[in-house]
Amino acid sequence: PKVVYVGSDGVERAVDAAVGENVMNTALRNGVPGIVGECGGNNSCATCHVWVRGEYRDAVGKPGDLEADLIDMGVSEPRDCSRLACQITLSDKLDGLVVDVPPTQP
Ligand code: FES
Repeated sequence: PKVVYVGSDGVERAVDAAVGENVMNTALRNGVPGIVGECGGNNSCATCHVWVRGEYRDAVGKPGDLEADLIDMGVSEPRDCSRLACQITLSDKLDGLVVDVPPTQP
Protein backbone atom coordinates (compact mmCIF):
# COMPACT_ATOMS: atom_id res chain seq x y z
CA PRO A 1 0.00 0.00 0.00
CA LYS A 2 1.05 3.57 -0.59
CA VAL A 3 1.02 6.20 2.12
CA VAL A 4 1.17 9.93 1.48
CA TYR A 5 2.60 12.17 4.19
CA VAL A 6 1.85 15.86 3.86
CA GLY A 7 4.29 18.05 5.76
CA SER A 8 3.34 21.30 7.46
CA ASP A 9 5.22 22.98 4.59
CA GLY A 10 2.71 21.41 2.17
CA VAL A 11 5.28 19.03 0.67
CA GLU A 12 3.74 15.62 -0.12
CA ARG A 13 5.81 12.47 0.21
CA ALA A 14 4.32 9.30 -1.24
CA VAL A 15 6.03 6.14 -0.06
CA ASP A 16 5.56 2.42 -0.55
CA ALA A 17 4.69 0.54 2.61
CA ALA A 18 4.41 -3.13 3.40
CA VAL A 19 1.20 -4.74 4.59
CA GLY A 20 1.47 -5.15 8.35
CA GLU A 21 3.89 -2.28 8.75
CA ASN A 22 2.65 0.74 10.69
CA VAL A 23 2.48 4.36 9.59
CA MET A 24 5.26 5.41 12.02
CA ASN A 25 7.78 2.75 10.88
CA THR A 26 7.04 3.51 7.28
CA ALA A 27 7.77 7.20 7.87
CA LEU A 28 11.04 6.49 9.69
CA ARG A 29 12.22 4.06 7.04
CA ASN A 30 11.63 6.71 4.38
CA GLY A 31 13.02 9.68 6.28
CA VAL A 32 9.73 11.54 6.48
CA PRO A 33 10.38 14.66 8.56
CA GLY A 34 8.21 15.40 11.58
CA ILE A 35 7.57 11.83 12.70
CA VAL A 36 9.92 10.87 15.51
CA GLY A 37 8.64 7.63 17.00
CA GLU A 38 10.65 7.99 20.17
CA CYS A 39 9.13 5.03 22.02
CA GLY A 40 9.62 2.70 19.07
CA GLY A 41 5.94 2.19 18.47
CA ASN A 42 4.84 1.27 21.97
CA ASN A 43 1.92 3.69 22.17
CA SER A 44 3.65 5.71 24.88
CA CYS A 45 5.35 8.81 23.45
CA ALA A 46 2.96 10.58 21.05
CA THR A 47 5.85 11.79 18.85
CA CYS A 48 4.26 10.01 15.91
CA HIS A 49 1.05 12.05 15.93
CA VAL A 50 -0.64 12.50 12.56
CA TRP A 51 -3.92 13.91 11.32
CA VAL A 52 -5.76 11.47 9.07
CA ARG A 53 -7.43 12.99 6.00
CA GLY A 54 -11.21 12.86 6.00
CA GLU A 55 -11.84 10.21 3.38
CA TYR A 56 -9.67 7.68 5.25
CA ARG A 57 -10.98 8.27 8.75
CA ASP A 58 -13.56 5.48 8.73
CA ALA A 59 -11.09 2.95 7.36
CA VAL A 60 -8.42 3.93 9.90
CA GLY A 61 -10.82 4.08 12.82
CA LYS A 62 -10.68 5.87 16.14
CA PRO A 63 -7.84 5.81 18.68
CA GLY A 64 -8.05 3.51 21.69
CA ASP A 65 -8.41 5.05 25.17
CA LEU A 66 -4.68 5.11 25.99
CA GLU A 67 -3.85 6.47 22.57
CA ALA A 68 -6.51 9.17 22.90
CA ASP A 69 -5.06 10.26 26.27
CA LEU A 70 -1.57 10.48 24.76
CA ILE A 71 -2.86 12.56 21.89
CA ASP A 72 -4.47 14.97 24.35
CA MET A 73 -1.23 15.31 26.31
CA GLY A 74 0.98 15.69 23.25
CA VAL A 75 2.48 18.85 21.84
CA SER A 76 0.56 18.88 18.59
CA GLU A 77 -3.01 20.10 18.40
CA PRO A 78 -5.46 17.25 19.04
CA ARG A 79 -8.13 17.01 16.35
CA ASP A 80 -10.98 14.63 15.63
CA CYS A 81 -8.77 13.02 13.01
CA SER A 82 -5.72 12.62 15.29
CA ARG A 83 -4.05 9.22 15.53
CA LEU A 84 -0.68 7.96 16.63
CA ALA A 85 0.97 6.68 13.49
CA CYS A 86 2.47 3.63 15.21
CA GLN A 87 -1.04 2.45 16.01
CA ILE A 88 -2.18 2.43 12.38
CA THR A 89 -1.29 -0.88 10.77
CA LEU A 90 -1.26 -0.80 7.01
CA SER A 91 -3.34 -3.09 4.87
CA ASP A 92 -4.49 -3.05 1.27
CA LYS A 93 -7.69 -1.45 2.52
CA LEU A 94 -5.63 1.62 3.48
CA ASP A 95 -3.83 1.92 0.14
CA GLY A 96 -3.42 5.58 -0.73
CA LEU A 97 -3.83 6.75 2.87
CA VAL A 98 -3.09 10.46 3.27
CA VAL A 99 -1.99 11.87 6.63
CA ASP A 100 -0.92 15.36 7.63
CA VAL A 101 2.21 15.64 9.75
CA PRO A 102 2.00 18.29 12.50
CA PRO A 103 4.59 21.09 12.48
CA THR A 104 6.43 20.09 15.65
CA GLN A 105 7.03 16.82 17.45
CA PRO A 106 9.87 17.02 19.95
FE1 FES B 1 5.62 6.38 20.39
FE2 FES B 1 3.90 6.06 18.41
S1 FES B 1 6.02 5.89 18.35
S2 FES B 1 3.48 6.50 20.47
